[in-house]
Amino acid sequence: MMRERPKGFKYVKTSFNYISYYKDGAWDEGVLRKEDTLTISATSTSIHYGQQCFEGLKAYRRKDGQIQLFRIEDNANRFKLSCERLAMPIISTEKFIDAVKKTVKANEDFVPDYGYGETLYIRPFMIGVGNNLGLRPSSEYIFSVIVSPVGPYFSGIAKPVDMMVSPYDRAAPHGTGDVKVGGNYAASLKAQLEAKKLGFADCIFLDPKTHSKIEEVGVANFFGITKDKKYITPKSPSILNSITNRSLKWLAMHVLDLQVLEEDIFIDELDQFEEAGACGTAAVISPIGSITNIGKKHVFPYHDTMGPYTKQLYDLLTGIQFGDIKDPNHWVTVLE
Ligand code: PLP
Ligand code: COI
Repeated sequence: MMRERPKGFKYVKTSFNYISYYKDGAWDEGVLRKEDTLTISATSTSIHYGQQCFEGLKAYRRKDGQIQLFRIEDNANRFKLSCERLAMPIISTEKFIDAVKKTVKANEDFVPDYGYGETLYIRPFMIGVGNNLGLRPSSEYIFSVIVSPVGPYFSGIAKPVDMMVSPYDRAAPHGTGDVKVGGNYAASLKAQLEAKKLGFADCIFLDPKTHSKIEEVGVANFFGITKDKKYITPKSPSILNSITNRSLKWLAMHVLDLQVLEEDIFIDELDQFEEAGACGTAAVISPIGSITNIGKKHVFPYHDTMGPYTKQLYDLLTGIQFGDIKDPNHWVTVLE
């Protein structure tokens, strides 16, 4: 039987989600439940002060029907960093992995069929709850995992998208840009809306200090590939350490024999790139065809189709994620 195919990156209610409560200094066991709503105090720190963080990963259906997860330990580790940065209690790697596995297993039938690049998106998150009007970390928290079948985040996978440089910042130099907290995304919404109104797929944020270097896209890291076989991605303390980008760096270096560099990418030095792209769990790899900065449009040589190295990276990454290519690094966990 063929499953219904997800339409883009939209929430579809599934059968179960996971919830665990933190009170008096300890997490409870956690349970699976059916309803996907929460009742919390109107004075919760997550509502007033943005004390919340989240993760994003996917479950992939293989050709043989089995389901697998990609680099889940890395998501568990990054979740800890986000929790610590916002003075929230951490979730152990074991609890994080157990909660994700249980939630995916309980929603097995929602993992889309193999063959269309569609997946079950997994969203673990933590919020500060309880009565807490003053500004201080909450003493009560909810950790939850919701899932939804999803298709592509950006409209086309093979077709490069146009982006514009945001006039706003999403993160401050010593702020929270390197962790996955809602505030970063709230700060990027107006920029994204304005970019979309002007016909762009999304916007690119520059470094908040000098506004001269590329940081990242609102939902993905940036990379460029030069004529002389260099994979270059920005080095900055205020961008999210993307697990997809980490994987691409490894594949670029070890499989495609590209030189991998993490360095400043100045917005007025885009000429060096033949290919450019945005990479992330939701975005996978979306090629970028052009970047417009203050009315000046830079068009990359590969702006009509995915460039050859980007295509190879895409095929390698998704090949490993969907189980068609042998996992070189213990990145994959097959669901029992
Ligand atoms: N940068 C931002 C701001 C993101 O929201 C994401 C998505 O998670 C990424 C980068 C990509 O990170 P990852 O590859 O770990 O999903
Ligand atoms: C992800 O790629 O997992 C993200 O968190 C992006 C999201 C903001 C849509």
